[in-house]
Amino acid sequence: MQFNEQIILKGLNLDSFELKTHQIIDSTNDECKRISSNKDFLVITADKQTKGKGRKGKKWHSPEGNISLSIAFADKDFSVPISIATGIIVKDALHEVFNKSLIKLKWPNDLVFKNKKIGGILVEKEIFANYTKTIVGIGINLELDKKESWWTDLKDLNGKKLRDTIINKILVRFETFFNNGLHDWKILWEQSCIHNDTEISVSKDAEIIKGKYLGVNDLGELLLQNEKDEVISFSSGEVSIKGIYNK
Ligand code: BTN
Repeated sequence: MQFNEQIILKGLNLDSFELKTHQIIDSTNDECKRISSNKDFLVITADKQTKGKGRKGKKWHSPEGNISLSIAFADKDFSVPISIATGIIVKDALHEVFNKSLIKLKWPNDLVFKNKKIGGILVEKEIFANYTKTIVGIGINLELDKKESWWTDLKDLNGKKLRDTIINKILVRFETFFNNGLHDWKILWEQSCIHNDTEISVSKDAEIIKGKYLGVNDLGELLLQNEKDEVISFSSGEVSIKGIYNK
């Protein structure tokens, strides 16, 4: 399925964006690592990925017709965790395109539709002598060839037909965030998070820790009140929340 670059770039400051569209690639995040750009944002999108990467070394199934999108830029101090901000941006972009609230966020950055996963975000950083390259990878399932019990797609909403527009709305919102920040991000996060006021189980190494979800701290780390009433923080690299998708 072809991309329409005019739709993807609509309303963006073209001095700041370099867009490369591919029909097939290993991973759009890896392509961002291989090439450099003299624009503020390098955007790579692919119809299909052969080695799509998920968090924690997992594979990301990326058949043609879905969204495999990466945005690379020189890091700056955002005062909001980039993965949390991206989750909010993507959710809002989808709500704008479909004109209704349908997506929730699962910590740290799963996109959830009808209690199943329809997308995820993988943030990677490369540190060079004089700057850090941040790569934000976004995968959204618009129409999958196969589904697991815990993940689904946006086929019922005709998501595939709106792919270029969805990418455009994400980029427009991302540019605004980059320039202006994201105010009240904790409130925005809480409004969309599926864990609010729930008991959760967190898996860390081989251990399962149970407790009440208390939100996130300034670093975007998960706050959990354990059975001894202690508040513990966990980073996204350490743990994942269990039992949401009935895996
Ligand atoms: C996750 O939920 O585990 C994160 C999935 C991130 C997938 C996207 S698709 C575009 C970009 N390229 C990759 O190889 N991965 C990310």
